[in-house]
Amino acid sequence: MIRRSRSEEQNMLTRSDNYDRALLAEIYDQTMTHAEDVALLRSLIGDAGSLDILECFSGTGRIMLPLLADGHNVTGIEIAQAMVDRSRNKAEPLGLAHKFNVWVRDALSEPWGEENYDVVVLGSNSLFELATVRAQKRCIELACQALRPSGHLFVDNNNWTSPLRESLGASWVALEGLGTDGTFARQTAETISVDESNGLTVTRRRWYLRTPAGEESWEEYDTSKRPVSGAEVRSWLTEFGFTIERVCGDFRGTAFDEQSERAIFWARKI
Ligand SMILES: C[S@@+](CC[C@H](N)C(=O)[O-])C[C@H]1O[C@@H](n2cnc3c(N)ncnc32)[C@H](O)[C@@H]1O
Repeated sequence: MIRRSRSEEQNMLTRSDNYDRALLAEIYDQTMTHAEDVALLRSLIGDAGSLDILECFSGTGRIMLPLLADGHNVTGIEIAQAMVDRSRNKAEPLGLAHKFNVWVRDALSEPWGEENYDVVVLGSNSLFELATVRAQKRCIELACQALRPSGHLFVDNNNWTSPLRESLGASWVALEGLGTDGTFARQTAETISVDESNGLTVTRRRWYLRTPAGEESWEEYDTSKRPVSGAEVRSWLTEFGFTIERVCGDFRGTAFDEQSERAIFWARKI
């Protein structure tokens, strides 16, 4: 274990962040505007008619809502009520409110289904949200159980291959923007400890607010995640009996190699 400074154990989240804040959900949507992953997923799904799709870690609906608009039946699983509220509010003007269906709960708390879905989506670094191999593998297992035979799992993560110690001390602005009420928010993040033995990475986050009247406040807390490599995800998919049909190293669909920036799997349940 390598630590940069002492972390506040009592203030430690076992997830990669606390997304349960309306302003954070709003600024998440201002920041995460990319849609290339959705385009790739749509091309993998193809023109198979209306499918039953489950998206776990559905957030503000960045992936889920376009799939709903395509005519699929999409169920979400999301732990943060504020993210769910925002996705529901976005569904309404799109005429999709009647099809909106998200379970607000911890993904690991109960099964996702018993052969109810044609496609399960674990998009946008979902596995990085979790702090242990056990939890990450459990997601692949739950996806497998939820899929019908011949159903597909889409798993998209950064392909993390560098030694974790290289990320120690890295700091960045994770989110920054102005809410509709005029409050400015900025979330900064710094990697403060890494454990090469199990991959646990602790990030200290600082959530800073400035109201239109100029009042400032901030909160500091530590969060946990576990970066994954494409090789690891491949081994878990194989362990749970998936046939890997396609592996892309980017959203353009370029074939994956060990140096690829991303590891995007399209795997079929046998
Ligand atoms: C980075 S966001 C991605 C959201 C969405 N998939 C996207 O691509 O925009 C990750 C989401 O996972 C949710 N999350 C994290 N841990 C979770 C858990 N154990 N169960 C359910 N949701 C979780 C967070 O609240 C957050 O909304």
